Formats: sequence, structure tokens, C-alpha cells
Amino acid sequence: MYKSDFLVIGSGLAGLFFSLKAAESGKVIIVTKDKMMESSTRYAQGGIASVMNLDTDSFENHISDTLVAGDGLCNREAVELMVRDAPNLINELISFGVQFTKKENGLDLGREGGHSNNRIVHAVDATGFEVESVMLRKAKEHPNITILEHHFAMDLLTEHHLGRKVSKSSETQCFGAYVYDKKKSEVRRVVSKVTILASGGIGHVYQYTTNPKVATGDGIAMAYRAKAKISNMEFVQFHPTSLTLEGANSFLISEALRGFGGILRNSAGEPFMEEYDDRKDLAPRDIVARAIDDQLKKRGDKSVYLDVTHLDSASVKKEFPTIYEKCLSFGLDITKNQIPVVPAAHYLCGGVETDLHGKTSIQRLFACGEAACTGVHGANRLASNSLLEALYFAKKASEKASEEFSGYRNEVNIPAWDESNTFNTKEWILISHNRNELKQIMWNYVGIVRSNLRLERALRRLTLLHEEIEEFYERTSVSVPLCELRNLTSVAYLIIQFAMNRTENRGLHYNLDHDTSKVW
Ligand code: FAD
Ligand code: SIN
Repeated sequence: MYKSDFLVIGSGLAGLFFSLKAAESGKVIIVTKDKMMESSTRYAQGGIASVMNLDTDSFENHISDTLVAGDGLCNREAVELMVRDAPNLINELISFGVQFTKKENGLDLGREGGHSNNRIVHAVDATGFEVESVMLRKAKEHPNITILEHHFAMDLLTEHHLGRKVSKSSETQCFGAYVYDKKKSEVRRVVSKVTILASGGIGHVYQYTTNPKVATGDGIAMAYRAKAKISNMEFVQFHPTSLTLEGANSFLISEALRGFGGILRNSAGEPFMEEYDDRKDLAPRDIVARAIDDQLKKRGDKSVYLDVTHLDSASVKKEFPTIYEKCLSFGLDITKNQIPVVPAAHYLCGGVETDLHGKTSIQRLFACGEAACTGVHGANRLASNSLLEALYFAKKASEKASEEFSGYRNEVNIPAWDESNTFNTKEWILISHNRNELKQIMWNYVGIVRSNLRLERALRRLTLLHEEIEEFYERTSVSVPLCELRNLTSVAYLIIQFAMNRTENRGLHYNLDHDTSKVW
């Protein structure tokens, strides 16, 4: 058993920023299921949205752009607080040593879809790598922070594990988590006064995703099992432009390239975005992704193309070195040839519901980053507001958790993990088959364009998969692929249920059986 003041699940930006702040008041254990660097944060390209120049931009514009993208479902107070704190957060990152791209008179500010101004603070096209590296270096140096790599959080510890019943879910408390040490193949109890879910997104519930392999919605599934309130799961954002070349594995082609002047063209070379939205290539992502989907279906094509060949090639190489080099590694020189792209699952706007301090509906459990639903994104996230949300709510959660933790004691009566009556099956192949099937169901029936029939079909197939997986889980010794599959199934179920319950088209949720006239 490990004991700590704070247990943080996840070592992306949300988990690390929380930890660095909370470590000023108590001991922090971070568990992370892969190498500590592995996270969506690490791959973020475009940057962090922030109004840095009040002569040319305003907080009101950033707030308004966020609310417009969120299509009526944002919590205005959350948006205002986050947007107004953004410059402080950026300056704090700079004080930590993060090197953002500069120009003569300050930071270089990029442009992305849905933003009325240039306000994307970035480190060329590898912002996430820069931020994650600096945060990790600081966390590793901090005497109050212990990072346990290759430790997979399996389940939150609650009264249920003590054999106690609670009458209302709001009375449930979280005492830490069962965590599987992958190298030693042992389940440990990590008890903590406060637990923070910073476990990131769900991209791998879909066949095609920009997300790294760790994004399997574990935190949301764990919170759901513990009966925490979950919200807005129907709002899955598909990034319009992921690279589609043999072996490219949905590598992201940043929206910042369109902000720099890139143009989307169909296979006939026509720039098609003007047919769909006055903002053309810089319309919000849901519109661009649906427009691409429409082009692919109408034309029977496998991809559309992002064209940057008309831009100054030296500038493209200088501003987008990661994308340039990556494409070149597949034999594609983007300064000479168009880039084949398709949409891919990118970001979940919903998640574990929190208040303005990152508190969930379960006592002693906080959530921040992509795993949380803070109210900032509503029905659709504005580009580059995600890293900002992770920073702002990690900070708020750390303030509240640091205030509260000394009022709790560590619960040491949690029983050890019980592996009796389980065995090591020879049927592991079933897990990968089920995982592929799940990802295909979600891509085909619960993707960019949905319908009642598709959702009903998805639910029927998923119910069957769920039964098989639960049965397998009950009798099999702990395995990370099986735990992930179980979590993916819960997340898929939540997305389908929320999608079925939303009887209108709003933001990212688009169902052919609802009023489609508003959309184009
Ligand atoms: P992550 O950074 O994903 O970290 C989650 C952590 O939890 C990981 O360490 C993971 O290993 C760990 N974890 C998960 N499950 C478990 C478990 N069961 N046990 C233990 N550990 C676990 N947003 C922007 O604002 N700007 C951008 O430019 C941008 N570009 C992006 C580009 C790409 C390719 C992608 C995929 C996303 C991008 N996003 C961007 C979105 C943004 O990067 C993420 O939403 C954000 O980084 C999420 O941070 P996080 O800390 O919540 O989660
Ligand atoms: C991108 O660089 O296009 C991704 C930005 C984001 O997800 O906010």
C-alpha cells in the first residue's frame, strides 16, 4: 500500500500542473500508465489560446468566440474566468522555462479556426512537447512529487470497497485507487486524502484518431463505475485534418497550417469550403469536418487535400518543422505536393462533471484536463482552448484540494485486490478482436454524421460486446488490454446514450433525423 496526500492519475499537462502546485502543501504521487512523457499533451501542435495584446485583441472577443463555438451550451462564468486568467497562465509557463516562439515585439501569435484574432501562443508546431518536457523536468526535481511510470489506475476506491453502502451518490467518498504495477504484475492500493483524475481523452474508442494509445477513457469509465456525474459525452470533436498516408497512423496536420493560409481542396483541385461557410477554411472544426465528410461521400473519394504549395516554402519549413519533417519521412514534400487528409476523432468535450474548482460529484475526487467536463467547451471546443482549460482548472483544483486535504485521513482498511477464482486465459486474441469491433462500430455508427438507426444498431452491438467483456473480466487475472477494453466499452456506451438523448442538432452532435436545415 502507498499513502499520499494527493493521488494524481495522469502525467499530461493537467496532472503535472496540478501536482506542481499541490506539492507546495503536501505529498503527491502521480501514477501514469505508460512512460511519463506519453500523453496527448506531448503531441499538441497548434498551441494555447490567450489574449496577449489588449491593443489588438480583447478578452470579450476570446469569450465570444468560445461561446459561439460551444453553440449555447458553455458555462459563461467558467469561460470568462478561464479566458481572463489565460495571460497569467502563459506568463507562469514562461517563468517555468517554457520557450514559446517569439517575434520582434513579443510572442508570435498564430491563428486557428473559430478565432476572430491571432491569439495562439505556440512553440513552433510542437507546443505540447515543449510544455510537457518543462513540466516533467520540474515535477521530477520536486522533493514532494513521486512519479510512478507504467502504473495503470484500475478502479477508484470508495465505500463500496469497504463493504459500506451510501444512500446518495453525493455522499460517496474517494479514498484513492487500485493501481496495477505493469512491470511487477501486481495490484497496489494507493490511498490518498484527495484523488485527481487527469487521465485525458477517449480517442481510441474510434477506429481513426489523432490521439496516442493511452487515450482510452480510463478515468471517465472509473468515475462512471463509482457513480460520479458524467456530462456532454455526445460531443466528440473530429479534427478535420489528419494525415492519411500508408503507415502515418492519423498524424495530426495542425489547423495552424490553415491559419497560415493553407487551403482545403477536393480531388478535382476545387477549394470547397466556400460552399459550406463564409469563414471558409477557418470555420469551426465541426463545420470543416462535416464538409469534408460530405465531399468524401458525394465524390466517393478516400481523402481531401490540404494545399500549402502556394505559400512561401521557407516560411512553411520554418513555422511547421515537425509537420514538414514527418510528411517528408513518408516521401511527401508539403511545399511541393498537397497533403492527403481525413477527419479523425480528436477531443472529447464531455467527461466527469466538475464545478468551477474542479470538484466532481464524489467527495475527495477532483478532475481536470480532457477527462473533465468543466462547462468551458459546451457543444464544441474552440481550437487551442484545451491546453488552456487544463492549466486553468488544474490550478483551481489545486487551490481547493490544498485547502481541503488536511481535513481528511488516509483510509487504510481497504482490502487487498482479490485475484482468487481468476485464471490466465489463452484467449487474449478475443480482446483485440473485440477492441477492433468496438472501434469500427463507433466509427461507422456514432461518428461525424449520426442517425437514429445507426445509434440503435450501435447500442445493440455494444450490449452484446459488453456482456462478453464483463464475463471475461470477472474470471480473468488482471491485464491492461482487458481493463482498457472494458473502459472503452463504458465510454462508448455513454457516448451512444448521450447521443440518443439529444434530440436536436447542436455543436458537434449531428443526427440526420433531426433538423439539418440550420447546419448548411
Ligand atoms: P493527457 O495529456 O492526454 O494526459 C493523460 C495522462 O493520463 C497520460 O499520462 C496517460 O498515460 C495517463 N493515463 C490515462 N489513463 C490512465 C490510467 N488508467 N492509469 C494511469 N495513467 C493513465 N489542444 C490545444 O489546446 N492545443 C493544441 O494545439 C492541441 N493539439 C493537439 C494535437 C494532438 C495530436 C492531440 C491528440 C491533441 C491536441 N490538443 C490540443 C488537445 C490537448 O492536447 C489535450 O486535450 C490535452 O493535452 C489533455 O491534457 P490532459 O493532461 O488532460 O491529458
Ligand atoms: C491543431 O493544432 O490543429 C490542434 C489544436 C487543438 O486541438 O486545439
